[in-house]
Amino acid sequence: MDVREALFARQSTRAFLDKPVAPALLTSIFEAAQQAPSNCNTQPWQTIIVSGCARDELERALAAHVASGESPAPDFGPSVLPAYAGVHRDRQYAAAAELYTAMDIERGDKLARTRASLRNWSFFGAPHVALFTMDRSLGLMGAVDVGGYAHGLALLLTVNGIGSCPQASLGYFPAPIREYLDIPDHMGILFGMSFGYPDPHALANRVRTGRATVLDAVRFVE
Ligand SMILES: Cc1cc2nc3c(=O)[nH]c(=O)nc-3n(C[C@H](O)[C@H](O)[C@H](O)COP(=O)(O)O)c2cc1C
Repeated sequence: MDVREALFARQSTRAFLDKPVAPALLTSIFEAAQQAPSNCNTQPWQTIIVSGCARDELERALAAHVASGESPAPDFGPSVLPAYAGVHRDRQYAAAAELYTAMDIERGDKLARTRASLRNWSFFGAPHVALFTMDRSLGLMGAVDVGGYAHGLALLLTVNGIGSCPQASLGYFPAPIREYLDIPDHMGILFGMSFGYPDPHALANRVRTGRATVLDAVRFVE
């Protein structure tokens, strides 16, 4: 699979097989992801990969916190939860509609939508979750670097037959994650990524989101 094929093959995966990725493969994927470029080569990402019993314990801690009705309190502030408007809101709604249609969830079925959305905090059943942290002092450029790193990682996972879902939602309730993983005060959780072998039969994995055309996104100037 070349890079172009990997870009088209990657999709957000939201249902996984109960089959962990072999540790040697995981190490080699995260080793390759280290090649991501970053501003001044600062390499701000500090990734925590949670698997096995720790993954299950973290899920329980997170589920209890979310169920307690706490409001989101992202480490990097409210910009992590943007209220989209205009074309961005249209695309947000279209993506949600595409996902819920693939999952056979009716537009008005709020309970089913809430249940589907709560699966974010059980890592969509994935055997592994990566949490992307960086020093709190790093601003926008740090986040740009971590985003590029995460996309490289998603492509590496794809070419190895491993599905992933980047999740801003994993940065919404940092308190139980910080406590469980003993994350130092100066580090913040930006977002996370659940990953593992995709469940080929799950409805949630049937969704294929659309994209604007290249001419909507790129202006060629000569
Ligand atoms: C930074 C970032 C945060 C995201 N957060 C979530 C999330 O919290 N939950 C979720 O289900 N999908 C999340 N997604 C996945 C997007 O919904 C998805 O990338 C988009 O709809 C395009 O679909 P595709 O990834 O299948 O191509 C996120 C994607 C990115 C890049």
